[in-house]
Amino acid sequence: MSVLNAGLIGCGRITDLHAPGYLRSDVARIHAVCDLDPAVAERRKQEWGATRATTDYRELLDDPKIDLVEIITPHHLHAQMCVDACRAGKHVSVQKPMAMNVTECDTMIAAAHEAGVKLKVFENFVFYPPYVKTRELIEDGAIGEPLSVRFKLGSSFRGGWPVPLKAWAWRLAEETCGGGPTLFDDGYHKFSMGIHLFGPVAQVHAWVDRTFGVVDVPALVTWTHTDGGRVGYIDATFSPHMTVRSHYYSADERVEITGTEGVIWVTRCTGQLLDEPPLLLHREGRTTAFEDIRADWLDSFVDSTHHFLRCIQEDEEPSLSGQRGKEVLQFVLAGLQSAETGAPVRPDEIVA
Ligand SMILES: NC(=O)c1ccc[n+]([C@@H]2O[C@H](COP(=O)([O-])OP(=O)(O)OC[C@H]3O[C@@H](n4cnc5c(N)ncnc54)[C@H](O)[C@@H]3O)[C@@H](O)[C@H]2O)c1
Repeated sequence: MSVLNAGLIGCGRITDLHAPGYLRSDVARIHAVCDLDPAVAERRKQEWGATRATTDYRELLDDPKIDLVEIITPHHLHAQMCVDACRAGKHVSVQKPMAMNVTECDTMIAAAHEAGVKLKVFENFVFYPPYVKTRELIEDGAIGEPLSVRFKLGSSFRGGWPVPLKAWAWRLAEETCGGGPTLFDDGYHKFSMGIHLFGPVAQVHAWVDRTFGVVDVPALVTWTHTDGGRVGYIDATFSPHMTVRSHYYSADERVEITGTEGVIWVTRCTGQLLDEPPLLLHREGRTTAFEDIRADWLDSFVDSTHHFLRCIQEDEEPSLSGQRGKEVLQFVLAGLQSAETGAPVRPDEIVA
């Protein structure tokens, strides 16, 4: 089979972690890049050895050599770019959150279906090796019947890699982000993991305050799953004066999953606050550490990209399909609606 040619639309901060999936692949390469900023497009072309650079994504879509595109732009642009890419016959990987609302998700899913192309929502946490192992352990019954999943999220201005001001600017505006930076943007990963680990969600109840008038924390989101009375919750805070140890964003995620027979802890993800093994399992009165597991956040991006390439090559449905992307977005939006009204909301009631 010939090498798959990819086109990257949007070449900002996070594409530093998208490019390695291609640069370390034998089956695909970055053929073209597109960014509104011509200097960024040209720099990325050189950096990644691409053949062409453009500032107009439609020009990139017109290139018959391109097999698939990655949409890595601010959220308000995802839907239109995705629909146009599908109509141009390209397979699409669109960064999370898939879209601004459920109506946009439906349009994107329909466009991919009509064009007969793959649609994948790029949510990398489900590919983070300690989470992959966690799911295996749960499925193998290592903690008995799962009871609860608890996500502790912390973020800060300090630590990690530099984030350009313009990348914050669109995130802090609802019309370009779609919601707050904590729950709608970054929180998406945790809502996605909730479904990935414990299945569909029945009902969400949330309380969200604001820090500095714009950051949607402190926040507490609780939910029940449809299966077996399983529950989950997110506790999110912002610590402006804390330096987070991280190679990437100044974000900390710690997860605790309790079952009828044991507990699993994942001690790191984007950042690493603890000098503990990435994954720990307590069962039968003993705690086992998984020391040797790959645990660099970058691994989740590379594995996610390679999964998509495999799906295209083997004509399989990506695990994070458009339908799953919509389900996660309904979960997120149910949380936001609940925070506004104070009442619990069912995700399946969010239809537009
Ligand atoms: N998976 C993750 O963990 C993760 C982390 C960060 C960001 N993201 C997602 O990646 C996407 C981009 O985020 P980022 O942090 O890289 O943002 P960013 O602001 O650093 O980069 C966005 C880029 O898109 C370009 N752009 C804007 N409009 C464009 C257009 N019409 N055509 C072409 N290019 C255009 C901008 O010039 C900019 O370079 C968002 O969807 C975000 O949620 C995901």
